[in-house]
Amino acid sequence: MNRFDPHSWCDGDQPVQRHLDLDLTVDFAGKALRGRVELHFTSASGGALDLDGRGLIISSARNDAGIDVPWSLAEQDDVRGDRLRFELPDGTTSLLIEYSTGPDALALGWLEPAQTAGGVHPFLFSQCQPIHARTMIPCQDTSRHRVTYTAAIRVPGPLRAVMSAAAVGEPEAEGATTIWRFDMPQAIPTYLLALAVGHLDKRDLGPRSCIYAEPEVVDKAAWEFAEVESMIASAEKLFGPYEWDRFDMLVMPPAFPYGGMENPRLTFLTPTLIAGDRSQVNVVAHELAHSWTGNLVTNATMEDFWLNEGFTVYAERRILEEIYGAEYADIQGVIRRNALQVNLDAFGPGHKYTHLRTKLDGVNPDDMYSLVPYEKGAQFVILIEQAVGRTRFDAFLLDYIRTFRFQSITTDEFLAFLEDRLPGVYEQIDGPSWVDGPDMPANEHPTASARVDRIRLLASGWLEGVRPGADATAAWSPEEWQLYLQDLPRTLSEKDCRWLDDTFALSAKGNYEVLVEWLTIAAGSAFDPALPRVREVLTNVGRMKYLKPLYTALMSNDTTPALAREIFAEVQESYHPLSRGSVAGLIKG
Ligand code: BES
Ligand code: ZN
Repeated sequence: MNRFDPHSWCDGDQPVQRHLDLDLTVDFAGKALRGRVELHFTSASGGALDLDGRGLIISSARNDAGIDVPWSLAEQDDVRGDRLRFELPDGTTSLLIEYSTGPDALALGWLEPAQTAGGVHPFLFSQCQPIHARTMIPCQDTSRHRVTYTAAIRVPGPLRAVMSAAAVGEPEAEGATTIWRFDMPQAIPTYLLALAVGHLDKRDLGPRSCIYAEPEVVDKAAWEFAEVESMIASAEKLFGPYEWDRFDMLVMPPAFPYGGMENPRLTFLTPTLIAGDRSQVNVVAHELAHSWTGNLVTNATMEDFWLNEGFTVYAERRILEEIYGAEYADIQGVIRRNALQVNLDAFGPGHKYTHLRTKLDGVNPDDMYSLVPYEKGAQFVILIEQAVGRTRFDAFLLDYIRTFRFQSITTDEFLAFLEDRLPGVYEQIDGPSWVDGPDMPANEHPTASARVDRIRLLASGWLEGVRPGADATAAWSPEEWQLYLQDLPRTLSEKDCRWLDDTFALSAKGNYEVLVEWLTIAAGSAFDPALPRVREVLTNVGRMKYLKPLYTALMSNDTTPALAREIFAEVQESYHPLSRGSVAGLIKG
């Protein structure tokens, strides 16, 4: 037995999947996917095969020769889920499994019509990263292996299905059902499998991009993300050719638990990015950057997640620098460094989850999600850049991506490559403290700018009565507002809250980063007049990045914990199971 991934039952001594053929019916009434998957192996094989599953209901299994394949639920584990054991007859090249998903499939968000912009049709979306593909498809759910796939998705007549794949041909009508077909020619780890179904329209944005969204939001979305082709062009200059043919995007209903998800050929985005002023396009830059760092070069397991996110945050910042200039990229860097500090403080000093490389045996990666792999990871990459200079580092990056494209690598494999190409640098920058040590090492490269310093100074004088003037703030960008609010004390007096909100109409801000930064202070301060707005956000938005600080703030004083519990009790049914789970953890007690 050779289990190499703490989050998968996949056994390295067994046959390996290389291609999936899916045929699934989307049953909105029963909240289930029903149908079949055929797993094709790298070569004819036989014997035991362990697949990952969680809550799947399997009805039959047979091989390519039509022979029934015996199977059983061999083992169950909180983190890995169900070990599905199949006994393959010798010479088996593919395994056809008929199944349906279970009622608590963590990958699947089933939304009522009322949770959509149109309010008429239901909506379904998947979220397979990190380890939820197994709740949707029985498979070797490890990012070490890659698959190509085809799919036929059967949906109620007026709805459209989209996937992390190329659409094939025109949809076919079959009675009240529409069949959408897909082909994914580029090999991906299973966490990048993605499906969404809803009342969707589309707008072309450029030669290789379009946006899908509900008709009610598609034009606003098209405007917000119109700059995508210039981002792709910048990214190609930095990281090499875009290898996925198309970069389409899908705007989700607000219940989507993340800001963005880099599903290949079809990035999923939260509608909270639509601020009306393109002030949140950094998330598009981030998901686009994953096309190289993450999707081409993939972390071997979630213990190496920083390889995905650290490099992607670095790459995101390079794209932003190229398009909007260094000052913009830097202010983003400072904002996110502040957010990292909140996470580090919550972990406490010396915590093992503040290492870049983590040990996750028996640990559910959703339970330790933080900005550490993102921002500490990016800082580590910046240090390498600083050590060798940008010219050499850019050549190194291109080389890194070309060398490992369509492969999944461990931290050790990365470090061996680093030592080979840039000998001595790892030691020079005290790499071990970064990779296998806690907190932020002392040689972190400080990000600063005159603009940042001005705002910091202003905020630090708050307790002494320093206040920003209307003429200064009139020209503030959303980033400057965010930074200012991040630097204010976490609780303010009623009078101070009122002054801020009356003077700057913060509760009416259209940029969610600014709005939530403000509401976090207001909630922590139990500032009554803003609580209806807090409730509104917690009711309408499922993005965990906003739910977590708001619920945490409500729980942090003596007055509002009851309100937090009341809101959660009222709206939890509408949350995605991942959001529900993480909020439940925050408000218990
Ligand atoms: N791949 C992540 C989202 C993710 C990570 C989903 C781990 C499930 C498990 C995505 O690229 C991401 O990081 N999104 C961020 C935005 C980004 C600008 C930091 C988000 O959703 O906030
Ligand atoms: Zn990311």
